[in-house]
Amino acid sequence: MSNLKNYSRRRFLAQSGLGLIAFAGMPGFLRAMEGMQAMPKLTPNKANPNFKPDVEFDLFCRPGAVSILPGQQTQVQQYAALLKKGPKETLIDIPGSYLGPLIHLQKGQKVRINLHNKLTEPTVAHWHGMHVPANMDGHPMYAIDPGASLVYEFEVLNRAGMNIYHPHPHEATAKQVYHGLAGALFVHDEEEAKLELPGGEFEIPIVIQDRLFDEHNQLIYVRNMHDRMTGFYGDHILVNGRPNFQIDVASRAYRLRVLNGSNARIYKLGWDDGTPITVIGVDGGLLEQPEVRPYVMLAPGERLDVWADFSGRNEGSQLVMRSLPFSGVLPKMAERMGGMMHANSLPVGSDYPIFTARVTKKVSDSPKLPSQLSKINRYQISDTANPDKPVPIGISEGPMAMLLNSRPYAYNDVQDFERIKVNTIQLMEIFHAHGGGGGHGKESAPATGEHGAEKQSGGMGHQGGGMGMMGMMGMGHQGGGMGMMGGMKHGSDDPKGGGSGMGMMMSMAHPIHLHGQQFQIVSRSISADKEADYATVRDGFIESGLKDVVLVMPGEKVRIIKPFQDFKGLFMYHCHNLEHEDMGMMRDFLVE
Ligand code: C2O
Ligand code: CU
Ligand code: CU
Repeated sequence: MSNLKNYSRRRFLAQSGLGLIAFAGMPGFLRAMEGMQAMPKLTPNKANPNFKPDVEFDLFCRPGAVSILPGQQTQVQQYAALLKKGPKETLIDIPGSYLGPLIHLQKGQKVRINLHNKLTEPTVAHWHGMHVPANMDGHPMYAIDPGASLVYEFEVLNRAGMNIYHPHPHEATAKQVYHGLAGALFVHDEEEAKLELPGGEFEIPIVIQDRLFDEHNQLIYVRNMHDRMTGFYGDHILVNGRPNFQIDVASRAYRLRVLNGSNARIYKLGWDDGTPITVIGVDGGLLEQPEVRPYVMLAPGERLDVWADFSGRNEGSQLVMRSLPFSGVLPKMAERMGGMMHANSLPVGSDYPIFTARVTKKVSDSPKLPSQLSKINRYQISDTANPDKPVPIGISEGPMAMLLNSRPYAYNDVQDFERIKVNTIQLMEIFHAHGGGGGHGKESAPATGEHGAEKQSGGMGHQGGGMGMMGMMGMGHQGGGMGMMGGMKHGSDDPKGGGSGMGMMMSMAHPIHLHGQQFQIVSRSISADKEADYATVRDGFIESGLKDVVLVMPGEKVRIIKPFQDFKGLFMYHCHNLEHEDMGMMRDFLVE
């Protein structure tokens, strides 16, 4: 057992890039590591003969090769599916794409999915957004070896909406998603059907991803620590696995089902001619009423249901969906260093096209946008089990580690505040625990902040050294406070300023995702010194719908209300910047 522990500790240190120097500098942190357990290996679940599925299909994870750029094919990993039982519309392939088939399920269906691992590494599939039992949720402890199979059985309890299926193996989620393992999973219900929204050819999935290719059209992935700390960014925007994506449309209304399937890239979506975006749904399905916005922010893992009406447009005209300029989502230091470490011709927050809609047919008739879309069961703070004591989700940022609630991911490392009583509604607060503002308003105090880094920008070596040191201070500090809501919350009050200086330098936006049922956003607040950057994104956040990912900007504090109904067991919460997730910016809630 102690060998196992040592192994997992060494492995953690190696993978998170913590060197020997940092090792020596953080006794508290290591003490916490001592109790940590390796991910268990479980016997894969088999089919239950008493479960009578309405829908059953095989889902294969396998290597493949597809044409993405002109010339050589690209080696990828992909999902492929084979329907064994149920309506044939359940599975719809996206021809020529590495993306998995679109899965269409009906609320109330009983579904069996046989996952077959044809890769050369362990994997497991997670149904992001779906409310399923813990042992069907694709927790990394259920990962299966090459050649093995895993059976999922669940009933569709979700309301209509767009969900995601993607791998979730320990420390390898980002890499597998990047190489192609992802797909969209739609749930349909009666409430949606009654609206008669545009369907068939008038309902179009838009899965946005960015990728980086070498000169042989092969995917390039994480090259250095910097790629992990900021998340990995490509310089080609792909939609449904295609560059320069175009759709041909008639002059009528369409329903665009948009998913940000990128590992780290955040988009600010807007039409190029200034037409506002009409949003009818988000992660957890339809809004109650449509919302019209000048632009909409879309972070990794987030979904948007867009009403795109091309009525009245002339044949031959076109409309381009762009990502519009914004600022503040990356650490200022990284923004500057980014240029030196590797040039990306498509900086986050710059202005670039995503896809083009060309009007190729003039028609006179179009469906009308319903003014009332759905009814959402909303909770009040007084409905929560903990109105005065929100469950903390503290974002801890350092140059060598991104964590949640100051602890790296470890199996069975559930803290008291991470135990949740089943069938309760919980108030939760996501905040920047360590430096980075966090709404504590102390940011201007320490001298080791962004300005300090700026002055050093001439010497890379110098910066590197400084980062290591500050990483050490930050980690040791977190370790010491390990107990420890106090330690976390008061990080920015530290008179030494080590923690807050470090946190501030690394402060960036994190798309925080919670497994299980969707949540409501109750309030957002931003620290005064971050308001200028925040103004470039603020109108793009939609709070009226149900969410399972929320983008938390530097200096921002977000309160949410989330139900934990029906199922006991481990449900993860993590950053959906997938590089952060794999670095350990992930924890479990134990619902009991
Ligand atoms: Cu889409 Cu645990 O994630
Ligand atoms: Cu998820
Ligand atoms: Cu993150």
